[in-house]
Amino acid sequence: MKSENKTTEDIIRAWLPEEKGLQKTVIEAMNYSVLAGGKRIRPTLMREAYRLFGGEEEVIEPFMAAMEMIHTYSLVHDDLPAMDNDTLRRGKPTTWSKYGEDMGILAGDSLLTFAFETAAKGFSLSAYPERTGRAIAVLAEKAGIYGMAGGQVVDVEKTGHPVNAEELDFIYRLKTGALLEASLMIGAILAGAGEEAILSMEKIGRNAGLAFQIRDDILDVISTEEELGKPIGSDARNEKTTYVTLFGMEAALAETSRLTAEAIAELDKMPGDTGFFRDFLKKLENRTK
Ligand code: IPE
Ligand code: IPE
Ligand code: MG
Ligand code: MG
Ligand code: MG
Repeated sequence: MKSENKTTEDIIRAWLPEEKGLQKTVIEAMNYSVLAGGKRIRPTLMREAYRLFGGEEEVIEPFMAAMEMIHTYSLVHDDLPAMDNDTLRRGKPTTWSKYGEDMGILAGDSLLTFAFETAAKGFSLSAYPERTGRAIAVLAEKAGIYGMAGGQVVDVEKTGHPVNAEELDFIYRLKTGALLEASLMIGAILAGAGEEAILSMEKIGRNAGLAFQIRDDILDVISTEEELGKPIGSDARNEKTTYVTLFGMEAALAETSRLTAEAIAELDKMPGDTGFFRDFLKKLENRTK
């Protein structure tokens, strides 16, 4: 099938590992976690960024899948008893509550590692190996201690302790913003965009990421378990400081709009047709799940 006719879902599925071998249990747990559902926001944004800068190679596909694997691993570990201790994710039992805590930990580890194994396959799908190499470096940086994992560390350490606005911004920028930044940057890098455009993509990702996490906090208060597919009230139960507890609901809604508008203003500087992109960011602002 031609790349443009494949859905994001088709692409994610195609790169998952086969459930065979003595280690089959962990592979089942990995695939269960990825295929449980999810909005696929990060690979969708990655593909849009790739299209915006004229990308046409298949190399984007393993990177889209790798990004969703890393995001899913972050959720699998986030739900563990030692972290947020949640039992529902994407409308299904969390990985640890279905497969046991040991397999929950190992499924997360394995998704993270398999993501890089998958992304590395991009080298044979592109005429520009230096772009693939740089995209892998961005994926690593934004997933690790300077990105998502670093943000989760501060989130966990600050649980039950007072958090100021600056610290909360740091946590959100890393734990949630970093993977959105990476998604947009990787799309741009693989398509051969210029340095300035790559920086713009990072900025859009940062603002969209902050808005996304504040909206996540809002939904933890106002949504339902059925709609979200994960428990509501998780933050209150875990005594998390969130944008909502720190500044109130009204300010949280206003900040989500402001950050989204900022992301869109940056997007408007980009060449080409940004219509889908703009609508997508707008929809995220008011999402209900
Ligand atoms: C949830 O991310 C975790 C946050 C970073 C807020 P998503 O809301 O994108 O989760 P899925 O992928 O749709 O399940
Ligand atoms: C999650 O923050 C950020 C991650 C990196 C997983 P949350 O703990 O608020 O995410 P949910 O609400 O469980 O999806
Ligand atoms: Mg958490
Ligand atoms: Mg959580
Ligand atoms: Mg949350």
